[in-house]
Amino acid sequence: MKPSFGLVLPFLLPLIAAQVPHWGPCPEPAVQPAFNLKQFMGRWFEIAKLPAQFEKGRCIETNFTLKPDNSIRVVSSEILKGELRKIEGTGVAEDQKNPAKLGITYSYVLPYSPYWILATDYVNSALVYSCTDILRLFHVDFAWILSRKRTLPDATVERAKDIFTNNNIDVSRMIASRQQGCDKTL
Ligand SMILES: *[C@@H]1O[C@H](CO)[C@@H](O)[C@H](O)[C@H]1NC(C)=O
Repeated sequence: MKPSFGLVLPFLLPLIAAQVPHWGPCPEPAVQPAFNLKQFMGRWFEIAKLPAQFEKGRCIETNFTLKPDNSIRVVSSEILKGELRKIEGTGVAEDQKNPAKLGITYSYVLPYSPYWILATDYVNSALVYSCTDILRLFHVDFAWILSRKRTLPDATVERAKDIFTNNNIDVSRMIASRQQGCDKTL
């Protein structure tokens, strides 16, 4: 069942309001060749993200688990105002020809949002991109640099940004996620 545009629009509007949309359709970045979903599973920490969302939670991490039916259990958590918050979603690899192009949804009333793994070595870092065309006139996008640890060397972050940029993704407004003082509060 495809949710109607009227249902989706109220969820999209805050996204659009949160940032400057880019004109034109989504870029079509290259994704991780021979993507291995199993190796990607497990715990990833958010190191940097686009768009800039200040005043949001810190210590953001996501735990991916492969389910027997090959869908993915996605549990994201953050600390917001001193409280640990968790949300659970579902991920799928919809197209076996493009295994690195995942879709994730955090609610059964919402369609899957693209969750494309542009590059990963599975053991250190991963680059994730999500872009949605709106009326084919403009697009809103999200990008994340993930790490298996709460920190990532600056050189790795810079190299990650270069990969986004080389794929026509503007990450000039990307901000670092706060991963300090996380383990002692939990
Ligand atoms: C990730 O999820 C799996 C399956 O639910 C669980 O066994 C594991 O402990 C979780 N890991 C973390 C770090 O939360």
